[in-house]
Amino acid sequence: MEKNYLIGIDVGTSATKTVLFDEEGNVTASASMAYPLLQPKNGWAEQRPEDWRDATFATVREVVSRSGVRPEKIRGIGISGQMHGLVMLDEQGKVIRPSIIWCDQRTGEEVEDMLRRMPRRKWIEITANPPLTGWTAAKILWVRKHEPENYARCRHILLPKDYIRYVLTGVFATEVSDASGMQLLDVPGRDWSEEVLQALEIDRGLLGQVYESCQVTGTLTREAAERTGLTTDTKVVGGAGDNAAAAVGTGVVKDKTAFTTIGTSGVVFAHSSKVAIDLKGRVHTCCCAVPGAWHVMGVTQGAGLSLKWFKDQFCQDYSARAEATGQDVYDRINEDVAGVPAGSDRLIYLPYLMGERTPHLDPDCRGVFFGLSAIHQRRHLLRAVMEGVAYSLCDCNEILKEMGIRVDEMMACGGGGKSGQWRQMLSDLYRCPVKTVSQEEGPALGAAILAGVGCGIYPDVETACERLIEEKDQVEPDEKQAKIYEAYHRLYQKLYRSLKDDFRELSGL
Ligand code: XUL
Repeated sequence: MEKNYLIGIDVGTSATKTVLFDEEGNVTASASMAYPLLQPKNGWAEQRPEDWRDATFATVREVVSRSGVRPEKIRGIGISGQMHGLVMLDEQGKVIRPSIIWCDQRTGEEVEDMLRRMPRRKWIEITANPPLTGWTAAKILWVRKHEPENYARCRHILLPKDYIRYVLTGVFATEVSDASGMQLLDVPGRDWSEEVLQALEIDRGLLGQVYESCQVTGTLTREAAERTGLTTDTKVVGGAGDNAAAAVGTGVVKDKTAFTTIGTSGVVFAHSSKVAIDLKGRVHTCCCAVPGAWHVMGVTQGAGLSLKWFKDQFCQDYSARAEATGQDVYDRINEDVAGVPAGSDRLIYLPYLMGERTPHLDPDCRGVFFGLSAIHQRRHLLRAVMEGVAYSLCDCNEILKEMGIRVDEMMACGGGGKSGQWRQMLSDLYRCPVKTVSQEEGPALGAAILAGVGCGIYPDVETACERLIEEKDQVEPDEKQAKIYEAYHRLYQKLYRSLKDDFRELSGL
């Protein structure tokens, strides 16, 4: 019998990646297209939704035509994407302004306004999280206050991947995992919260219907079918926020399993069959893509972003040589850092280029190299950047432990998860084995699995993961290095406490 196929689209911060899988989870074709991150001011971050749209059409068309698979056999599409971004559309469905994305930190005042409108305790009770600068609700208030003419024209509010759903199907909708990161959702109840919408004076009509991640939300419009080479029978399911989708793509779909991803952001994510909340709000609780379950995650704002920033600013020669020889520039960086000892010869990097979420919830803090000496070379700085990200992820992991969330399996994924050096740092700092899976597509595979469940190809998410995902390798903690890192991590934590007020002062200059 001819196989069925599924597409996973991941609308990331650096690029949109589209992968066509057969129903056994094998990659048939994949394509990606990059776009810029706009930073009009220090701490601001925007992207053009039209870039996501163009990248989606181009990459889907490419995988469909390159694969030679009959379009009728491509049953479904799952979309995953960067969370928390604000997309505003007018009456005609046109984008009103660039999207203010997840790592933007301009909304400090709006968060204070949210706390005046409803007590913190109530926010945590309903949305499972305290008001957060990077989340969508605060951004909506910012636009309403600073750009009232844009707000007045707004008829639809969507998350990045849900804008892509609209482009593909004409449907305004979202699903529980990504909607959790808008701060408008009743997270235990898995639907919009009337109480929150009233407190913020936001009209429910601006928001789409909320689905579970594997429910079908629509089929392709004629125009989308023509532009992609697919048929109007192709179904589009809810999909998931990138982290919830990565969980499915790495098989983290039951209690005691977790993963660390190093993409532009870094996340330590643990599955939970109960709503587990950190009352201090240092980690997020969201619905996960498995119906009836949740997850808890800590977030490092500038993970892969830190290394990419350093590479783009200070390693142009590596990039040029990598392009000429076909070598991956990150392989070259990994070779470099392998020759530097743990602790980077007494150099510590704080990865706060875009402020920090876990554990500080501080939009004002910024990146630091601490301990620079004349003995340091570029490779020391590169290693320090990777270690600084690992210290921050260790902070996330420690809070999960403090909450009593038991983790027996820690997977690694994302671009940074491919680095053996980075996985070893995580394993040493967490003091537990860190594993990878053979399937490297993370969120795109997760989204495709959700599509497969929605199209009836798999009975449920857990069964699909058991069938498709297999473990590949495992790194074990190195006791000697773990001891070194423990001391560095303690100093790393102290540095934030020492600098907290200075960061604030700097932001006011
Ligand atoms: C999670 C978060 C990021 C984005 C971008 O809360 O903000 O992980 O989803 O990847």
